[in-house]
Amino acid sequence: MNTLETIEAHRSIRQFKSDPIPQGDLDAIIHSATRGSSSGNMQTYSIIVTRDPKRREALWELHLEQDMIRQAPVLLTFCVDWNRMNQWCRLRGATPGFDNFLCFLVGFADALIAAQNAALAAESIGYGICYMGTTLCATPGLIEHFGLPDGVFPATTLVVGLPDEDPEPRARLPLESVVHEEEYQEFDEDRTLETYRDREAEGWNRYMKFPDLARRIRESGVTNLAQVYTEVKYTAERNRGFSRDLLGGLAGQGFMRDDEPT
Ligand SMILES: Cc1cc2nc3c(=O)[nH]c(=O)nc-3n(C[C@H](O)[C@H](O)[C@H](O)COP(=O)(O)O)c2cc1C
Repeated sequence: MNTLETIEAHRSIRQFKSDPIPQGDLDAIIHSATRGSSSGNMQTYSIIVTRDPKRREALWELHLEQDMIRQAPVLLTFCVDWNRMNQWCRLRGATPGFDNFLCFLVGFADALIAAQNAALAAESIGYGICYMGTTLCATPGLIEHFGLPDGVFPATTLVVGLPDEDPEPRARLPLESVVHEEEYQEFDEDRTLETYRDREAEGWNRYMKFPDLARRIRESGVTNLAQVYTEVKYTAERNRGFSRDLLGGLAGQGFMRDDEPT
């Protein structure tokens, strides 16, 4: 497939065959990750490959028991990584000043660009992928699991393997609702409701097909998709709790030193 066809055919895969990924394919996927742009060409990320079933089991627990982690043969965890750069700078008589939030964001952008290149490369040669947003909910456990040193922080995870399902591509919001010409345009109420009209039906029907989620939706008493997002899937309490963990983790990994009085 050419690049546009690969992008157009994308859909997240959540059922995988257990067949291993040949080393040559995995090398090609990881090589493609590193061909992405990175700030100053510093490549401030690392990619941790997990294949060992016991380690995958441990990651399954950390990732809130998402089953594709048990099924797929490979997990790629993309980490912000200034540790390698810091060491090199020190060895070359350069004093690194990368222990701050700006540099965390720079590394986060680098890591996500690498991940998306890996995703497209994998899909272009017939593999399926799914991102694991739970990476950001499990940072304390992942830091310990991987033994991440100062300057390294988990950013995102890709599950990769041969698809064992063939889902339809999911619809997107209308193009004109995500594009702004020259200046940001605020939507009036009618336009906002119109923008999400099809999504409301599609998303609701989709979520009601997952028995556990459907039960939680029914028990919560919510009546539309927006409320599913705010009251069931991504509650303020949940978001703030994980956010506090993240901020603590960032300080622990040495990314908030500019906040400390000198
Ligand atoms: C950063 C990120 C985190 C995600 N985390 C999860 C996840 O934890 N579990 C999951 O099943 N899907 C996850 N997804 C997949 C999204 O649900 C999916 O991309 C979205 O529903 C659109 O569907 P599509 O990828 O099939 O087009 C994640 C996607 C992104 C970009």
